[in-house]
Amino acid sequence: MSDLKARIQGVRDTFNEALGHVEGLNALEELKNRYLGRKRGIVKELLTDLRSVPKELRPELGQAVNRLKQAVETALAEKFEALKSGEANSREGGIDLTLPGIAPELGALHPLNVVNRDLIRIFERMGYEVAGASEIETDFYNFEALGISKDHPARDMQDTFYISDDVVLRTHTSNVQIHLMENRKPPFKAIMPGRVYRKDADITHSPMFHQVEGLVVGEHVTFTDLKGTLEHFLKKLFGTQTKMRLRPSFFPFTEPSAEVDVSCIMCGGKGCRVCKNSGWLEILGAGMVDPVVFGNVGYDPETVSGFAFGLGVERVAMLKYGISDIRMFFDNDLRFLSQFN
Ligand code: PHE
Repeated sequence: MSDLKARIQGVRDTFNEALGHVEGLNALEELKNRYLGRKRGIVKELLTDLRSVPKELRPELGQAVNRLKQAVETALAEKFEALKSGEANSREGGIDLTLPGIAPELGALHPLNVVNRDLIRIFERMGYEVAGASEIETDFYNFEALGISKDHPARDMQDTFYISDDVVLRTHTSNVQIHLMENRKPPFKAIMPGRVYRKDADITHSPMFHQVEGLVVGEHVTFTDLKGTLEHFLKKLFGTQTKMRLRPSFFPFTEPSAEVDVSCIMCGGKGCRVCKNSGWLEILGAGMVDPVVFGNVGYDPETVSGFAFGLGVERVAMLKYGISDIRMFFDNDLRFLSQFN
């Protein structure tokens, strides 16, 4: 009965040919039914026809049909896998969980925020609270209460943005000192970070910049306390090898006043371009709160004493990161900003 044998081979050939043309899962399912269907499948038919074959030929032909059935099953299963992964990779298809993920882009802190946070953290660890006040301020809080009289040179129109005769954009964070003292009883220690405004613009000055001010008020607060506090702060900020020196200076609201220098953080004090060969960098203004200021906020200058200091955040950031142009902080160029992670 080589008749059946030939049919088996014929089925194998037509199946392979048909499988080659299958392009989708639906067509594959149809093909599977056509060949392996339980009732009218082509392979099933072969098995049925096997019954009418002479006994002695049955084992051989039976094995041949079984081999065909297995071959068809394997080929269908392989094609199924191939179509499935192909579909997953095509755009209309499902999701391919094996594809690499797309990592979200992380932002970076602005360098001024990095420095501002550092400054605040150092003082918080010394027990300072953080205080603030409005950037739009009256003449009284920005000037008058701080001993800056109407004819003081610091009021020059060159420096101050006036909103009206009596209202300004604050030129320093010292206005917070006054609000704080009006609302609080000593003793307290506070740090006051914030934006300030001056009519000034070049590579080291910006019309808007940031200051951090400090104020400590209590009984028996001395200049030695000021010195120790600043020395600790500057070593934390720039490193333990940092040296500090005070030079006599003047601020209308402190007496005595000092300009505070640190040993140059670029050359360590040997002298370089950044410190103009002096070995020192000016970093802070400071002094003992003027008794007149205490009088202005209703404190008794006979029992209360205190110190204050202020520094520019941009200046610290420029020194720390070696940035030569203050405008880079405000250009929002991502190539610059993404370097401060
Ligand atoms: N307010 C001063 C300035 O802007 C800095 C300063 C603050 C000085 C506190 C002494 C005490 O220049």
